[in-house]
Amino acid sequence: MFARRIAVIGTGYVGLTTGACLASLGHHVVCADIDEAKVTRLNAGQIDILEPGLPELVAEGVAAGRLEFVLGARNAITQPDQPPVEVVFLCVPTPMGEGGAADLAAVQAVANEVRHLLPTNCVIVNKSTVPVGTAETTRKMIGRRDVAVVSNPEFLREGSAVHDFLHPDRIVVGSDSQEAAERVAALYSRLGAPTQLTDAASAEMVKYAANCFLAMKLSYVNALSDLCERLGADVVEVTEGMGYDRRIGANFLSPGPGWGGSCFPKDTHALLEIAKAAGMDFELVAASLSTNATTRARVVDKVRDAAGGSLSGKRIGLLGLTFKAGTDDLRDSPSLAVAELLRAEGAELYGYDPACPVDVPATAGITVVDEPLDMAKDAAALVVLTEWPQFRALDWTALAGVVEAPVVIDTRNLLDPDVLRRAGFAWIGLGRS
Ligand code: UGA
Repeated sequence: MFARRIAVIGTGYVGLTTGACLASLGHHVVCADIDEAKVTRLNAGQIDILEPGLPELVAEGVAAGRLEFVLGARNAITQPDQPPVEVVFLCVPTPMGEGGAADLAAVQAVANEVRHLLPTNCVIVNKSTVPVGTAETTRKMIGRRDVAVVSNPEFLREGSAVHDFLHPDRIVVGSDSQEAAERVAALYSRLGAPTQLTDAASAEMVKYAANCFLAMKLSYVNALSDLCERLGADVVEVTEGMGYDRRIGANFLSPGPGWGGSCFPKDTHALLEIAKAAGMDFELVAASLSTNATTRARVVDKVRDAAGGSLSGKRIGLLGLTFKAGTDDLRDSPSLAVAELLRAEGAELYGYDPACPVDVPATAGITVVDEPLDMAKDAAALVVLTEWPQFRALDWTALAGVVEAPVVIDTRNLLDPDVLRRAGFAWIGLGRS
């Protein structure tokens, strides 16, 4: 029998995508959250996050009776008059705790809450990004011989999470119980993806290893773009030439204002802490973080230069506030980090973002406006920080008419310099000759 009864604890980006996608594969999924209002909204088909394809998938699952939302882990696991759940996914947050290590309080709280409720022979799956050894700690905490713990890290990108779930590069399943690992791998069998069965510690490490490698790749490209500028080379040409090498690959080679989001900053810090606790100084990861800070500072240098050497009292227009295009997520957004640096030098900031995030923290000091023209009005410079494709189609001639000085610093190399020049702007990219 393929279809399984599954509980998913936590309905954030990962939990909700996992629940909806598993339901679309034919399983019966009950998703639990501790936020009552959110559960009510989800049951009414309202999704709080911007994730293409997710609302449709949730609606489909609910309509087919394969997906439901309940309050609290207990209600997901002990459903009266229903067959017992066979697999429980933990998809709760593991934010950066004190000193950079992952904070496992939510994982521990759920494990404690459910340990006596779990049906016989049920499998616990950890999808949250957790330090190596957490599967083992969770197994001990649950303390049940009949309940196996499996690590099954997610590799979902925000903004394409549904696509990534349904078309994965690989599925990694780690456990000291071969039978439990095979049972979890079988949940995904319809996807036909390469599947790696391994031990729990290695599966947990794969997630950090992949994210930190990608962060390192981006820091390398950002540093390279600096060097290209100094030497008169063009980073777009250079990365194209690099990308043809299949060992390097053409993806994830675009320079930007530094990497951010809810995962890379948290996971690089966590891996450094994990290494430190194991007696190792992981210099490459530390260097990726410091290069990321340098990249942001370099953007500020460019804006200051464009604004005539000082930012004090200058109005600066920011295009894009989210950490990347295609999401409304502001967590650890490079745009906000750059904004803070600009404001510290006395700039007055006006920001425009097509996703219209409402929760921009006051510390960034940005006046968020709904119209690009209001963002550009009297600006001494405009700065593209997020690679929203919509920015290419803005009326740049109209924008040139309202700015104080027509100069654009394009930290994503997103815009067509010729279009900008024809509209009357000076265009400054990153790493371009
Ligand atoms: C990342 C990983 O890509 C996922 O595989 C992983 O599952 C996820 O973290 C996670 O751990 O949950 P995500 O944080 O959604 O996904 O964002 P990415 O698309 O990886 O982008 C991260 C940052 O790198 C963004 O700030 C983005 O703008 C930047 N970036 C990305 C670049 O500057 N250049 C690029 O070429 C690509």
